[in-house]
Formats: sequence, structure tokens, C-alpha cells
Amino acid sequence: MKKIGIIGAMDEEVNRLKEMMQEVKIKNIASMDFYEGSFEGSPLVVVRSGIGKVNAAICTQILVDLYDIDLVINTGVAGSLRNEINIADIVISTDALQHDVDARGFGYELGVIPRMEASIFKADNDLLNLAKSVCKEVLPSLGVYTGRVVSGDQFISDSKKKEWLIKTFDGYCTEMEGAAIAQAAYLNKIPFLIIRAISDKADHSAEMDYTEFEKIAIDNTVKLLRALIKKI
Ligand code: ADE
Repeated sequence: MKKIGIIGAMDEEVNRLKEMMQEVKIKNIASMDFYEGSFEGSPLVVVRSGIGKVNAAICTQILVDLYDIDLVINTGVAGSLRNEINIADIVISTDALQHDVDARGFGYELGVIPRMEASIFKADNDLLNLAKSVCKEVLPSLGVYTGRVVSGDQFISDSKKKEWLIKTFDGYCTEMEGAAIAQAAYLNKIPFLIIRAISDKADHSAEMDYTEFEKIAIDNTVKLLRALIKKI
């Protein structure tokens, strides 16, 4: 049976997953609490990484090195980068990149990591299709989109920046960890998937919307993950 690592940046994003686990052993490593156990027979490690790409990458590496996970799923909320993707809708990653990588001074395009073979990290196709079909089953009235996740160490709450992100990277949603987890997964040759529920529109209203809609968005990812874990 596959051992699944699940990373959320914030307590709100993973607490309900931790509560549903059985036979839990908790270990604190690098100031993160790793909850190892199972959910209805599926082996699982759930962890709150903290916010941002560095935390997320460290967390992923620990899951690989010390927990020997077979795959990693990143869950949580995100800002929408498309008009048709509304608050509470779900975005499942086809791939992920880091929008704040800028080595143009050395002749690289924006988002390209110097001296790496890849800077756009492809999500696992089987996991993606499975998540899509589970979504239709458990959240039938929601918009479910598959597309690019663009991550950076920035909360996007500015319409100009949002437009720039859309124009430059053609993303579906933006958040602060997914592509770092994707890069760590790529380097360790394990599959990954990012599943995000939209909490805001990444524009001038983002901060207000985020506070209001975060809980609804997280309810949706929890519902989806509960059903998905059983099918992996
Ligand atoms: N997570 C949720 N909304 C976000 C936004 N607008 N920017 C970055 N990360 C987010």
C-alpha cells in the first residue's frame, strides 16, 4: 500500500485531516509536527509545513528521508488567477512553477531556475485523473479546474501583479508552497499533486475574501482528500 505524505501550510488546512487519522505517532522535526498513522487502512503522514517555499521544501525532504513516502499531496487554499474560477472552486495541478524566480540578469527567462533541467514541474497524471474523478463524485456542484499552479513567497492582493502573473505564466491559481513541494518531489523522483480550494481572487479584495472564505474552501479540500486517500 502506498504511503502518502500530505502537506498543508497552515494548521487550519491540516487539523481536520489529523483528527480523522488512526494509530497516530507524532514527532517534531525542524519545528514541524509530523503525524504518522493511517486513515481507514491507508498509511499517511500529515504535517503543517508553515507558510512559504522554504518551509514547504524542508518539509517535503523530511517526508522523503525519514518517512519514506511514496507520493506527496499539497493541500490548502489559493488565490484564483482566472475569471471563471470562483471562490470555493477547486484547482488541481497539471504542473507548478515559481513565479518569483528571476535570473534574467544571466539570460534566463522569468521563472527559470538556473542550471536546473526543469523549472516547470509536472504533476503525476494518474493522481491528477483520480483526484478529478473523486471531485466530481464528492463535490458535484463545484467548479473543478486542472491547470498550472504558480507559487511564490508573496501573498498576491494586487490586481496589477495578478495580471502580470496571468500574462507571464498562464497560471490557474497562486499560492506560496506548491511549486517548492513539486521541485522537492522532482528532485527525489516521487509523484506529487497540488489540490487547492480558492479562498480569494488574488486582487484588491483578496485579504477580506481570504478571511471570510478560507473555512469554506478548506471544507472542500478536506471532503475531497478523505475520499481520495481511500482510492490511492
Ligand atoms: N493563498 C491564498 N490566497 C493567496 C493569494 N492571494 N496569494 C498567495 N497565496 C495565497
